[in-house]
Amino acid sequence: MPLIVFEGPDGCGKTTQSELLVQRLRARGRPARRLREPGGTPLGEAVRAWLLDPAHDPCPTAELFGYLMARAELCQRVLIPALAAGEWLVLDRFWHSTLAYQAWGLGLDPARVRAAIELAIGGLRADLAVLLAVSEEELQRRRAGAARDRIEARDAEFQRRVRAGYERLAADGELTVIDGRGDPDAVAARLWPLVAALGA
Ligand SMILES: Nc1ncnc2c1ncn2[C@@H]1O[C@H](COP(=O)(O)OP(=O)(O)O)[C@@H](O)[C@H]1O
Ligand SMILES: [Mg+2]
Repeated sequence: MPLIVFEGPDGCGKTTQSELLVQRLRARGRPARRLREPGGTPLGEAVRAWLLDPAHDPCPTAELFGYLMARAELCQRVLIPALAAGEWLVLDRFWHSTLAYQAWGLGLDPARVRAAIELAIGGLRADLAVLLAVSEEELQRRRAGAARDRIEARDAEFQRRVRAGYERLAADGELTVIDGRGDPDAVAARLWPLVAALGA
């Protein structure tokens, strides 16, 4: 069954939209589950806590492999078996985040990062990978007052490179851009035809 991914910078609406989508799929009788990266397994949640803890300062390559460790575990132990068993999976971040944050954000070589991602995901592909497009001003409004984890606390220049990385993935056709402005139901309504086209 389909794997649907939400991507984009912090505050663009991934968690909100992935929760709304799972509710809508369930309301239509589809067995649907929301998962997040990094996480979704005991190992992945432990790695997530480590990666996001501001007390830690891994070098870029170590950070990359942290995300890939969590992802390999999620793919092998959860995503691949659940898709084979007929579930609809809605994933809050996937490999596009690794290119945006660790390749373009931190400056690791994108081609080598892609090769490492390939190893971690073992050929698994998303049926739909959405980039929620929201202006920088709107992102800042939505994030105002929220606690920042280790990655979110990086400077504005890092966050700008991340956004540029996402835009490049969208330009290359690896992400489908959905206008993320307006209230959550309006965004969900824009997205739904793409999900319906997958057989929802
Ligand atoms: N369409 C929207 N319009 C206004 N605020 C939103 C919208 N979608 C999400 N939010 C709010 O913005 C903040 C970030 O949204 P969230 O879904 O957590 O984004 P992400 O998971 O991408 O970081 C939350 O406080 C959320 O309630
Ligand atoms: Mg979120």
